[in-house]
Amino acid sequence: MTNELIYSGKAKDLMTTDNPEILKMVYKDQATALNGKRKEQIVGKGRVNHQISNLIFDYLKQKGIETHLVQNLSETEQLVKKVEIIPLEVVLRNVVAGSFARKFGQRVGQTLQTPIIEYYFKNDALDDPAINISQATALKLVSLAEIQTIEAMTNTVNQLLTELFNQIGIDLVDFKLEFGRYRGRLILADEFSPDNCRLWDQKSHASLDKDVFRQNQGDLVTVYQEVLQRLDQTIGGQ
Ligand code: C5P
Repeated sequence: MTNELIYSGKAKDLMTTDNPEILKMVYKDQATALNGKRKEQIVGKGRVNHQISNLIFDYLKQKGIETHLVQNLSETEQLVKKVEIIPLEVVLRNVVAGSFARKFGQRVGQTLQTPIIEYYFKNDALDDPAINISQATALKLVSLAEIQTIEAMTNTVNQLLTELFNQIGIDLVDFKLEFGRYRGRLILADEFSPDNCRLWDQKSHASLDKDVFRQNQGDLVTVYQEVLQRLDQTIGGQ
């Protein structure tokens, strides 16, 4: 298999394979904060994120959500469908935290009356600015019909994963998704791991996600492994 690096992200690399419709995704041992301005190597992070994302994407697939995941190759590598990525980060919030708390002067931890969906334009040079639906459609990043599908899929993912995390004593506070076009459909791309969501332990209220790194609260891999272990016990054997 000839693998040519086509994209090097903050936490993952993407490479070509012999099949033009399939790419290889490699999870890296790198943690970043402040949109890449703070960077650290953390041994074991790539492996644990890969395992968590696989479990979640397999679970979502069973529940009818199509994802780009094709097959695992190793502890840090997987084959994924080559999609045309939509340059939007789709954030759903159930509970006030992070930038929403800062931006609107809200108390962290308040449950929102209804989940909120926000969009950010994926652009490192511009620091991923917030973008609304009329801006995103006027700039032809996405069509109105696609946005409707994205919203419906994001709400379904939220319902499924809120319930799943609830079963393992964790509140799903917020998360980020990315979508791609594949053979005329929209499918879930990228990953779902504690790098792109907030998970709070229901008993201790401790963060079980990248806030541990952002706020220097301890060892990130130990915390991610705790999430993996709980998920594995609940859905690992399915
Ligand atoms: O920082 P903020 O509160 O806006 O983040 C909301 C959610 O989106 C968090 O779970 C965060 O980890 C995720 N996120 C992400 N990638 C970004 C920005 C936010 O995964 N570039």
